[in-house]
Amino acid sequence: MLVDGFNRGISYLRLSITDRCNLHCIYCVPPYDERKLRHKDILRYEELLRVVRIAVKLGINKIRLTGGEPFVRKGVGEFVPMLTALKGLDDVSLTTNGVYLKDNLDMLKAAGITRINVSIDSLERERFKSITRFDYFNRVWEGIEKARDMGFSPIKLNVVIMKGVNDNEVLDFGRLAIEQPYYIRFIECMPIGLQANSLAFIPNPEIEKALVNRFGRLIAVSPGQNDGPARRFRFDGGEGEIGFISPISHCFCRDCNRLRLTANGMLLPCLLSDREVNIKDPLRRGCLDEELIEIFLKAVDLKPECHPLSLDNHRKVQRKMCSIGG
Ligand code: 5AD
Repeated sequence: MLVDGFNRGISYLRLSITDRCNLHCIYCVPPYDERKLRHKDILRYEELLRVVRIAVKLGINKIRLTGGEPFVRKGVGEFVPMLTALKGLDDVSLTTNGVYLKDNLDMLKAAGITRINVSIDSLERERFKSITRFDYFNRVWEGIEKARDMGFSPIKLNVVIMKGVNDNEVLDFGRLAIEQPYYIRFIECMPIGLQANSLAFIPNPEIEKALVNRFGRLIAVSPGQNDGPARRFRFDGGEGEIGFISPISHCFCRDCNRLRLTANGMLLPCLLSDREVNIKDPLRRGCLDEELIEIFLKAVDLKPECHPLSLDNHRKVQRKMCSIGG
């Protein structure tokens, strides 16, 4: 088992398989077409599989595929079953913007993936378009409903609420968690990258208060082993759940159990730190497994005790979210 300097067990790896995305959300991707990684600079699928095999040997048992948008990478439909076939992984899941979700559900199900997260910041077509800069609300929603009908569970809907943008939809998302089996997860907007604007930030306790005022008590759901930072609740009689991911108002680093691998092969000890360890160059030099193990140990060793964001210290993080995958 990997354990860092603050006695946290590290069992979860987030794999960003591409930095490309077919949406341009205002808080995540700059509006202009910026330079993306070249194909030769992103890890090939067989390289990813080697890294994951090492990670599993070291005690990683949970993997999440992220991007950019994972479904825009060519060959992902062949990669996913190879990944889920690896022994030792208890939990493989995926975060997507949902644009290509409905076309990939059969593949995911056949590969044994049942847990998905869909990023969706509005339930209204016009607002969805102004946040993502694309008119794809209907197809995303069709994907979500199809996933529900096919028995995917849990289906988590990631929502970033921003002041003056979509804050009038908090109760609509709350109602959705009552009427449908979706897990709505309110993620506080973090000041990451060029576009992130701390003005947009709304603390989750405010959202919680608005939900309770309207719908009544939120009942705490006891955390599962692989839950991560979300605080989970449900409404009495509700079909779904409400989760709060509150990097700013409620520092959760104490429970951090994760590492991240970027598409170009950098192992990141923390989403919100600029530290990284290069795994691609040694891989391409044909290094031994022992060297890859050392790289993992180093990344774990570099994990900071706590990230630098808090209500009174709202530092901007330079790295762009679209290249890390959240
Ligand atoms: N702050 C909070 N969440 C963000 N995400 C992307 N950028 C930010 C940000 N600046 C979310 C996406 C996605 C998840 C992986 O991260 O909405 O759901």
